[in-house]
Amino acid sequence: MKHDFVEKNIAVMVLLTIVAISFGGLVEIVPLFFIEETTEPVEGLMPLTATQLEGRDIYIREGCVGCHSQMIRPLRSETERYGHYSVAGEFVYDHPFLWGSKRTGPDLARVGARYSDDWHRAHLMDPRSVVPESNMPAFPWLFENTVDGSMTGKKMAALRMVGVPYTDEDIAAAAEAVEGKTEIEALISYLQQLGTLFKHKR
Ligand code: HEC
Repeated sequence: MKHDFVEKNIAVMVLLTIVAISFGGLVEIVPLFFIEETTEPVEGLMPLTATQLEGRDIYIREGCVGCHSQMIRPLRSETERYGHYSVAGEFVYDHPFLWGSKRTGPDLARVGARYSDDWHRAHLMDPRSVVPESNMPAFPWLFENTVDGSMTGKKMAALRMVGVPYTDEDIAAAAEAVEGKTEIEALISYLQQLGTLFKHKR
């Protein structure tokens, strides 16, 4: 009888459906904020250096995230190709996340230390020079532009507010640390640390 009533009153049905679904959602999502594994950094995780942080911003500015994910799924086909699957604790200092959702190019979560700096320079100047069939665009201007360090300290201070453990010394030394560096140097130093903590694991 009661079921009859629910099925014949669409408003009640909708309301009860929403209650049922949100209960399911809450049970799955809320605990994630409290489980240590998802909120604690993995052992050895360090905040990015001033140069790497500027490199990360260049990665965002140039839209690399539109073609590259940074998220290895726990599937055999992915771990065989890229290395250990991504774990939540690797990303606790990453604001915003650069997991991405499109793979026009390969995943970059573990690309750090896979190639030499020279390889990256050649690849970013002219991808076809090292991977003939590549359809990745070239980024020649990165070789000419120098990093603007005037905001680096402020960026670190902002990240500290959301939990990245930068020290006052890190922030004070930031502008000097990136002084005179080219954008390509900053970008490559960012790429070269990606996923290196888990390099040894398979
Ligand atoms: C239009 C899509 C596109 C964009 C934008 C793009 N890439 Fe790529 N990328 C590719 C493709 C396709 C490949 C595979 C062929 C190759 O190696 O060039 C690739 C390969 C790479 C590789 C080699 C990965 C490996 O494991 O072999 C790196 C590193 C890389 N890209 C970095 C970048 C960076 C940094 C940026 C931003 C400055 C960028 N890409 C922007 C499409 C893109």
